[in-house]
Amino acid sequence: MNWSELGFNFNRTGGENARLYYKDGVWSAPEFTTDEYLPIHISAACLHYGLEAFEGLKAFRGVDGKVRLFRPSANAYRMACGARKLCLPEVPEQLFVDTCVEIVRRNMEFVPPYESRAALYLRPLLIGTKPCLGVRSVDEAMFVVFAVPVGPYFKEGIHPINVIVDRRQDRAAPLGTGDVKVGGNYASSMLSFENAHNQGFAAVMYTDSVEHRYIEECGAANFFAIKGDKYITPKSPSILPSITNGSLRILASDMGLIVEERPVDIAELPTFDECGACGTGAVISPIGMVYDLQTGETVHYGSEVGKVSVALYNALKDIQYGRTQDCYGWTLIVE
Ligand SMILES: Cc1ncc(COP(=O)(O)O)c(C=O)c1O
Repeated sequence: MNWSELGFNFNRTGGENARLYYKDGVWSAPEFTTDEYLPIHISAACLHYGLEAFEGLKAFRGVDGKVRLFRPSANAYRMACGARKLCLPEVPEQLFVDTCVEIVRRNMEFVPPYESRAALYLRPLLIGTKPCLGVRSVDEAMFVVFAVPVGPYFKEGIHPINVIVDRRQDRAAPLGTGDVKVGGNYASSMLSFENAHNQGFAAVMYTDSVEHRYIEECGAANFFAIKGDKYITPKSPSILPSITNGSLRILASDMGLIVEERPVDIAELPTFDECGACGTGAVISPIGMVYDLQTGETVHYGSEVGKVSVALYNALKDIQYGRTQDCYGWTLIVE
């Protein structure tokens, strides 16, 4: 495999994926297969009513050659929150984690070498499989985990991205499903994502869908800002609780920063020293410029990555790649 050419695409691995079936109130034992297709009924609830939740997490080959899975229990918890909201059966935490660990084991040869800065991306997926025509909850489901090697998000090193504030499409409603990782949220933001890309922006900065004034998310990532000695990140019921953001908040606090989780008015953008998007994909994508489509205003943060963002990025990457001791218990070594 040519690790240096990997992007964030589905690269056929030849490795195994896992399937577990929920029926009559119990989960089956995992089945492992190299088949990349699912046998699914044409009337399965996930195909029609969006009854699906998914996750994304990475395994890294460390500087010591050991493979570390980053915070799988946090993903298990988040998927369970999604399952509850969609009235799907929950995957118990231990079953979720054990299945992810087993998939890493069975795809060991696809965990990229340390030097490549690439990783093995795991995609757990929970789908309602019961055939139904009318809208209703289902008590038959499938839990799938597959793994794909992915390249480093920034091949030429971390650099700032440009984002657009586009209020023409809401990502999520305050009492909707924005706080869980379900496909419908991505469907509802696809058009603005396409428009942003066609105009040369890396991501859309979403505002709240009531006043279109408070920052919600930045593409498929959370938003954070640095202002003096503060790490500021938006608080809202329609934001997905990012595991990366949660980790950065702890690291920021341990570095002596004050962590503020509160509504963040878009008007505050010019007052920030640094800002960025954070998520599993890139850890941190620093924001170089924000363009507001409605007001025509732009805020520039420069072409260099801010020093606090770099320090946070390095602190998290050092844990993921085993370059520093994981005193938080975030990594699970897969033997
Ligand atoms: C909408 C959205 N927000 C935030 C995140 C970042 O979450 P995490 O750090 O758990 O990857 C993601 C990616 O999963 C996402 O899709």
